[in-house]
Amino acid sequence: MKIGVAVSGQGSNLRNLVERGFEVVAVATNRPSCRAAAFARQRGIALAELPQKAFDSAEQRDVAMRDFFAGRGVELVVDAGFDRIHTRPFLEAFQNRIINVHPSLLPEFAGGMDALEQALASGVRRTGATVHIVTADLDAGPILLQESVPILDGDTVETLRERVHEAEHRILPQAIRLMETRIANSPSVR
Ligand code: GRF
Repeated sequence: MKIGVAVSGQGSNLRNLVERGFEVVAVATNRPSCRAAAFARQRGIALAELPQKAFDSAEQRDVAMRDFFAGRGVELVVDAGFDRIHTRPFLEAFQNRIINVHPSLLPEFAGGMDALEQALASGVRRTGATVHIVTADLDAGPILLQESVPILDGDTVETLRERVHEAEHRILPQAIRLMETRIANSPSVR
């Protein structure tokens, strides 16, 4: 299944998917200088650089991203550290075919870029990782998989992030396989 990955950051999830042999045919970024984009270039994966300042609106950026992914035959979009919210043209084109990885056990610590900080500040003894289908409601689409991660005494955002990333690197590939099965069984979900 042809996968398009949207990235803005470090790219550890992108790297994990590529190294596990998933068919990543396209990568799109709003931050051309991020490490994830550098990885795509280094691996020769088609890369769309779509900084918001090049567009008049988020919708226009999303139309460009939609056309880029569609032009490469993308069947599933994976948001792997993409720090923008998709707008209607993108959501409609890939309805039920966009998944996101989030560093908490949703619905806990939803809706922000600081889920790890929130978990540490709240005093909970575990958080986790979630892969869910992306809908217009931020971080609230149907959940595919979750993995719990303990919070240990002395954890910092960095040590916790590392442990959460390990969980993400396990459940994102599993979630993609689930989506593959779903899409194969109902090709009309689009
Ligand atoms: C992950 O923690 C993910 O949950 C969040 O952004 C981070 C991306 O990490 N949405 P990376 O860029 O894949 O290393």
